[in-house]
Amino acid sequence: MAIIIKTESQIKLIRESCRLLAIVHKELEEFIRPGISTREIDIKGDSLIRKLGGIPNFLHYNGYPASICVSVNDEVVHGIPSKRRILEEGDIVSLDAGMIYKGYHSDEARTHAVGRISPEAQQLIDVTRESFFAGIKMAKAGNHLYDISNAVAEYIRPYGYGIVRDLVGHGVGTKLHEDPQIPNYAQFKRGPRLRPGMTLAVEPMINMGGAEVEWLDDNWTVVTEDGSLSAHYENTILITDGEPEILTRC
Ligand code: MF3
Ligand code: CO
Repeated sequence: MAIIIKTESQIKLIRESCRLLAIVHKELEEFIRPGISTREIDIKGDSLIRKLGGIPNFLHYNGYPASICVSVNDEVVHGIPSKRRILEEGDIVSLDAGMIYKGYHSDEARTHAVGRISPEAQQLIDVTRESFFAGIKMAKAGNHLYDISNAVAEYIRPYGYGIVRDLVGHGVGTKLHEDPQIPNYAQFKRGPRLRPGMTLAVEPMINMGGAEVEWLDDNWTVVTEDGSLSAHYENTILITDGEPEILTRC
């Protein structure tokens, strides 16, 4: 595993890429409402990214056909936007969007409520976000990578939710997916040592039911096997000697 340590000038560009991406996510959050199609979210996100001087990094990535991954309810990640998929009151919708700015990638995901949702769904969204913060408490130089994984898993455990194992977080830089892989479930080893200048996408994907997922026939959309709801929360962070810097946050 070769984890790239970014230079100060690279970090500046990643930081800018992430700052702009956070604006895109904020605007998309405000755009979410019952009655819109997932395709409209994609069109809106694509144009926001380009307006800010970026390029959508998901578009054509391994053949993915859109700029924003839009995953509704039991869809975990990588949902393909469609003009026929209309958001309804009570749905939850995960938006995963990244961009390239001056050669540097950024990656962020959020799950939003569509109108009023059940308290159970809201708790899933909240706990998923909180598990990210529990994880990154460990994300400082001198600690090890899987300290993050273990802290996420430990936070989720009392809720009995399923932690997705088939997809993981990753390094971010001149490529969308760099080393290392960052699991969200408990590890026996501590993994590589964290060093200042590492830029990582930490992204718990949490199911209300079991951890198992499957792929739809489109070969992209990941859904929970038991049909339960799923939430996602992702930020690109910078490892420092102290608190990590959350780069994709307004
Ligand atoms: N953010 C996603 C991830 O880290 C990347 C999606 S790429 C796409 O897995 F092609 F699916 F859009
Ligand atoms: Co990611």
